[in-house]
Amino acid sequence: DWTPQSFVEETVETLQTQLGNDKVVLGLSGGVDSSVAAMLLHKAIGKNLYCIFVNNGLLRKNEFEDVLNQYEGMGLNVKGVDASARFLDALAGLSDPEEKRKAIGRVFIEVFDDEAHLIQDVKWLAQGTIYPDVIESVSATGGPSATIKSHHNVGGLPDFMKLKVVEPLKALFKDEVRRVGASMNMDSQLLGRHPFPGPGLAIRILGDLTAEKVRILQEVDFIFINNLRSWGLYDKVWQAGAILLPVNSVGVMGDERTYEKCVALRAVESTDGMTADWVNLPYEFLQKTSNEIINKVKGVNRVVYDISSKPPATIEWE
Ligand code: XMP
Repeated sequence: DWTPQSFVEETVETLQTQLGNDKVVLGLSGGVDSSVAAMLLHKAIGKNLYCIFVNNGLLRKNEFEDVLNQYEGMGLNVKGVDASARFLDALAGLSDPEEKRKAIGRVFIEVFDDEAHLIQDVKWLAQGTIYPDVIESVSATGGPSATIKSHHNVGGLPDFMKLKVVEPLKALFKDEVRRVGASMNMDSQLLGRHPFPGPGLAIRILGDLTAEKVRILQEVDFIFINNLRSWGLYDKVWQAGAILLPVNSVGVMGDERTYEKCVALRAVESTDGMTADWVNLPYEFLQKTSNEIINKVKGVNRVVYDISSKPPATIEWE
């Protein structure tokens, strides 16, 4: 019968036979799937696994540094590449959600290809694809985790895509991936992380992006997520985040009227992201969190809570 331990043993053996002394490149996202895939490959081939973690400048506050440190602490051969400026440049002037996604996908491939070229004689591309991704790409909905695959029709194929592909988690569901990670003693906070979209905060800043908007949203999101953790709510929620609305509204501070940004908070329960219900967060939690956001984040004077379920609303606003 299937156990995480036996899966790890068998997979490590298979990978060793399959890969021999070959070099493998893998893009880490900070998410559960790519991290567990990396750990399995690391067990199998050690330093022949070359991990690349790209900062697109659209991650959560402190995420790039924190997660990179964590990966290094796990013994992974990982290179952090800060390409924030390149992504922000490519996004300048774009406000359509699909155009933003395309620009991010394109730059990601460029950056990843440049980095993969620096590794001599790399033979394989590893991916953290899991079973639901396989189904999704068959039904061509272009959903989660499809960052690499869904963009390979943009012009000629980048060199790294000519590599052979290895996908050790391809037969697993998310909960099995988490159990496999736990059986390799991976950090429970890393394994319990909420799903986070590849285009990151770009699709939670409605309309066009600026560095300032990214900063504001990072601050808001940081307060929201930290409060969910400190209230013991984080693990009860499938996914949560904040959205920066393209709306200014009037407020009052001291004797002055303000005209500033509005943010929405979103927290949903789900099992696979296909359907989702908004979470009935305690009023007291919402009250404290809203006060904290408005007091601490300059430029925000109004907070709303999204009470829409999927369908018909999607989880992301773009
Ligand atoms: P929606 O908004 O479609 O989201 O209800 C369902 C799940 O997919 C994630 N999502 C994405 N993930 N690239 C990704 O990697 C994307 O472009 C993307 N769009 C949505 C979303 O965060 C949720 O978990």
